[in-house]
Amino acid sequence: MSKDTSKKSKAPLKTLARTLGFVIRSYPVHCVAVLLCLIITTIVTAQGTMFTKELINEYIQPMLDGTLEQDVGFSRLGVRMIFIILMYGAGVLSTFLVNRLMVYVTQGTLKIIRDTLFEHMEKLPISYFDRNERGDIMSIYTNDTDTLRQLISQSVPNMISNVSTVVTVLTSMIILSPLLTLTALIVVALATTITRLLAGKSAKYFRKRQKNIGEVNAFVEEAVEGQRVIKVFTHEDRILETFDEKNGRLYDSTRLANGLANVVMPIMGNLGYLNYVVVAIVGGYLAVKGVGGFAIASLIPFLQFTRQFNMPISQFSQQLNSIIMALAGAERIFALLDAPVEEDGGYVTLVNARENGDGTLSECEEHTGVWAWKHPHSADGTVTYTRLRGDIVFENVDFGYVPEKTVLHDISLYARPGEKIAFVGATGAGKTTITNLINRFYDIQNGKIRYDGINIQKIKKADLRRSLGVVLQDTHLFTGTVADNIRYGKLDATDEEVRAAAKLAGADYFITHLPKGYDTEITGDGANLSQGQRQLIAIARAAVADPPVLILDEATSSIDTRTEAIVQRGMDSLMEGRTVFVIAHRLSTVKNASVIMVLANGRIIERGSHESLLEDKGVYYTLYTGNKK
Ligand SMILES: Nc1ncnc2c1ncn2[C@@H]1O[C@H](COP(=O)(O)OP(=O)(O)OP(=O)(O)O)[C@@H](O)[C@H]1O
Ligand SMILES: [Mg+2]
Repeated sequence: MSKDTSKKSKAPLKTLARTLGFVIRSYPVHCVAVLLCLIITTIVTAQGTMFTKELINEYIQPMLDGTLEQDVGFSRLGVRMIFIILMYGAGVLSTFLVNRLMVYVTQGTLKIIRDTLFEHMEKLPISYFDRNERGDIMSIYTNDTDTLRQLISQSVPNMISNVSTVVTVLTSMIILSPLLTLTALIVVALATTITRLLAGKSAKYFRKRQKNIGEVNAFVEEAVEGQRVIKVFTHEDRILETFDEKNGRLYDSTRLANGLANVVMPIMGNLGYLNYVVVAIVGGYLAVKGVGGFAIASLIPFLQFTRQFNMPISQFSQQLNSIIMALAGAERIFALLDAPVEEDGGYVTLVNARENGDGTLSECEEHTGVWAWKHPHSADGTVTYTRLRGDIVFENVDFGYVPEKTVLHDISLYARPGEKIAFVGATGAGKTTITNLINRFYDIQNGKIRYDGINIQKIKKADLRRSLGVVLQDTHLFTGTVADNIRYGKLDATDEEVRAAAKLAGADYFITHLPKGYDTEITGDGANLSQGQRQLIAIARAAVADPPVLILDEATSSIDTRTEAIVQRGMDSLMEGRTVFVIAHRLSTVKNASVIMVLANGRIIERGSHESLLEDKGVYYTLYTGNKK
C-alpha cells in the first residue's frame, strides 16, 4: 500500500532539528560553508541595490549640478565599478558554491541515511515485519527519502536564504527610511492576509488531491499484483469501473486545486505591484516634500528592495507547507531508525572444536567438523565446552505473538539427537509457531527451551541460527543464479558441494534440465520456477549448510507424489544423524517419524509413533484414515 504523503508531521520542530542535526553532524564544514555563502549572496544583492543611491548622490547629481568634473566623476565611478563587479562576482561564486555543496551534502546525507536505515532494518526482530506492511517499509526508502532530499537540498536552503533576504532587505529599508518601511509593511500585511484567505481554500483541495493520488496509486498497485485473480474471476470491467471512479475524483480535486492556484498565484504576484505602486506614491511624496530628509536618491533602491521583499514573503507559506510535508516523511524514517532492535543477551557461542584424547573438547580455529558450545561462566571465570549434538527440549512453553492471545499452551517435548519429530494438525494449530521459537524469531513468555542442555536465551542468536537448517513455509529465493541461491546456505560451498546438496534434495534432475543449468538466473522471487521447484532449491539450500538440526516446514507440500518419492529418499539421507523437525500436511511423509505430535489449538493433544497413534484411534487415527479415503 502506498503511503498517504499528505499526512502532516506530529512534532515538526523536533523532527526538523533532528534532521538538520543529522545533516550537520555528517557534513559540519560543508554546512558552515553553505550558510556563509548564502549570507554573502544576500548581502551582495542588498549592497548592489544600495549602490544606486550612491550612484545618484555621489556621481550623477554632482555631475549634473556641475560640482563634480565629468572626467573626474567617470574615472572615479570606473574605479568604484570594479569593486561592484568584484562584489557581484563573489555573489555569483557563492551561489555556484551553494549549489555544488548542496548536491554533495544532500546526496551524501541520503546515502548515509539509506545505509543506516538498512543496517538498522537488518537488526530488527521479525515481529517488526509482522506489524509493518511491506509497502510501508518500501516507501520509507523511496518516497520518504525523496521528500527528505527536497527538504535538505531545496526547502531548507531556500528558507535560510529567504529569511536572510528579509532581514538584510528590511534593515536596508529601515536605514533608507523608517517611515516608508512602515508603509511597505502595512501593504505587505494586507496582501498576505488576502492571499492567505485564498491559499487556504486551495490548500484544502491540494490535500484532497494528495489523498486521491494515494488512492489511485494504491489501487493500481493492487490491480497489478492481483492481475491473475482479476482475470480468473473476470472482474476486468468491474475493476475498471472502480478505477474510473477514483480517477474521476482525482481529476476533480486536481482541477479545483489547480484552478484556484491559477487564480491565487497571479493575484499574489500582482499584489507585489500594489506594494510597489503605494511605495512609489508615498515615497515620491516624501521625497518631494523632503519629509525626514528623505531624498529621491533613496527612493530608487527602496523601490527595488520593496520588490525583493515581496518574493520571499509570498514563497514563505508555500515552502512552509512543503517542509512540513517532508518532515512527515522524515518522521517515518526516524520511526524506523528508532524501532527497537532485536535484543541478544546471548553469550554462549558456537566454535570449532577438537576432541582431546580424554574425551574433553578444546576450541580450535580451523574447521574440524566438530562443533561445540562455548559457555563462559561469569561466576568463576571458567569456560566449558559442550559438544553440539542437536538435543532440543521444550519445557512447559507458553507463547503468544501478542500478549493478549496465547497461541501455544504448555508445550513440552524432547527431541534427542538424530530423532525425527513430526508436527501434524489443522491449519493455524501452531506448528510453524513452534519452529519460530526454536530459532528465536520470537521469545517465549513461560517455560524453557534447551538446546544441548543450554537455555537458548543464553545462546547468541547468530550462533543458534547457524546451527539450524531451516526450510521455511514460504520459500523465498533471491535474484541470482540457482547455484547462488543454494550457496546461500553456506557461502563458501564449492560447486561440488552445491551439486551434492541439490542431489540430496532431489533438485539436481530438474536443475540440469533448465536452459542454463545451475547458472540459470532466478528472477522476481523465482517467478520463472514452479512452486515445487522453488521448494526443492530451498531444501538444497538447507542441506548445503550441513546443520545438526533441521526444520522443514511443509517443505514438500508442492511437490508431486512421484518427485516426492525421489525427494523422500534424498530427505531420508539428509535427515540421517540429524535432529529433524518436520511439519507436513501429507501424513505419508511423517509416517516414519520417531515421534508424531498432534497439535490442536496450540496444544499437543496426542503424541507417539505412527503405529501407536493409529492403535490409540484418536485424532491422528481419524486424520490418517480420513486422508486415506
Ligand atoms: N506473525 C504472527 N502474528 C500474530 N499471530 C500469528 C502470526 N503468525 C501466526 N499467528 C497466529 O498463530 C496461530 C498459529 O499459527 P501457525 O502459523 O503456527 O499455524 P500452523 O499450524 O503453522 O498453520 P498452517 O498449517 O496453516 O501453516 C494462528 O492462530 C495464527 O493466526
Ligand atoms: Mg505453518
